[in-house]
Amino acid sequence: MSSYLETTYNVYKEAALTPDVGLCCTTNPIWELPGLKIPKIMQEMNYGCGSTVHARDLTNNPKTLYVGVGGGMELLQFAYFNRQKNGVVGIDMVNEMLEASRKNFIEAETLNPWFKSEFVELKKGNALNLPVEDNSIDVAAQNCLFNIFKTEDLKKAIAEMYRVLKPHGRLVMSDPTCEQSMNETLRNDERLRALCLSGSLSIKEYVKMLTDAGFGTIEIRARKPYRILDPKHYATDELIYIESIEVAAIKDPMPADGPCVFTGKTAIYFGENDYFDDNKGHVLLNNQPLAVCDKTANALGSLNRDDIFISESTYHYDGGGCC
Ligand SMILES: C[S@@+](CC[C@H](N)C(=O)[O-])C[C@H]1O[C@@H](n2cnc3c(N)ncnc32)[C@H](O)[C@@H]1O
Repeated sequence: MSSYLETTYNVYKEAALTPDVGLCCTTNPIWELPGLKIPKIMQEMNYGCGSTVHARDLTNNPKTLYVGVGGGMELLQFAYFNRQKNGVVGIDMVNEMLEASRKNFIEAETLNPWFKSEFVELKKGNALNLPVEDNSIDVAAQNCLFNIFKTEDLKKAIAEMYRVLKPHGRLVMSDPTCEQSMNETLRNDERLRALCLSGSLSIKEYVKMLTDAGFGTIEIRARKPYRILDPKHYATDELIYIESIEVAAIKDPMPADGPCVFTGKTAIYFGENDYFDDNKGHVLLNNQPLAVCDKTANALGSLNRDDIFISESTYHYDGGGCC
């Protein structure tokens, strides 16, 4: 195992043995659905930086894979939608984390009459070499793990997720991102990297890693402030602003003209007719918003019409629209 992965192992072994409430806090509320109660210990071991649980991904009891289980909170939330024996597979490389989450699931049984620990199958394994069959998963998720990986390992981790997903399956993620370039001292600080503070990519780089792996559709669902690295406390001359994003990468075939990346852009036609048809599959009804991917936004923009408005990216895409 490379040195930074060993450091990561030790950081999360410690976080399993002694829960660290502030480790990866974010502005997300801990949501509970009707009949779903999250044990306090799971909330204290919420080491993610957003949510990967989106109800619209979770119809028809999807077979779910969760890599990097932490305290198990999101696996419990996924199990709420699945409710079948081994319906959610959880993989972690840290023995102590697997043990801690196992205990947390037993506690979750006492709070949630519908929940059985057997809904979650915990397995020891590495994100870089998943012990999971090809094309067997509907929804795969990871929260605040991929940002820790260096480039070659990140490529492997994404390729593994792609391999195990069924066609049209989705990889749902939350990770820190940073639009500034961090210096090498920060980048190579293994502990900061393990703590999800110095490994992040820009959104553009992050999306490219996903599309390079073959994911034909990308949805950026949320973008939020996350952390500051300031010169007084970290090895940096400038203030570094880190955000967190929620992203879904869908194993759709790659379109011939490149991936569909939804960053929350919307097109609105406001001309003299009832609608505008670009004859490429996009019909804009008069003064109705239509969510479009960045590729389509660019194509509509390049028509230079004075009756089509294209919004900026909101980084809040929530389904609908067309590519
Ligand atoms: C930042 S924590 C996130 C935990 C959880 N996803 C959450 O949102 O609370 C990272 C998790 O990934 C696990 N982990 C670290 N490196 C891993 C690897 N190479 N393969 C699998 N799991 C790993 C850690 O043990 C830990 O549970």
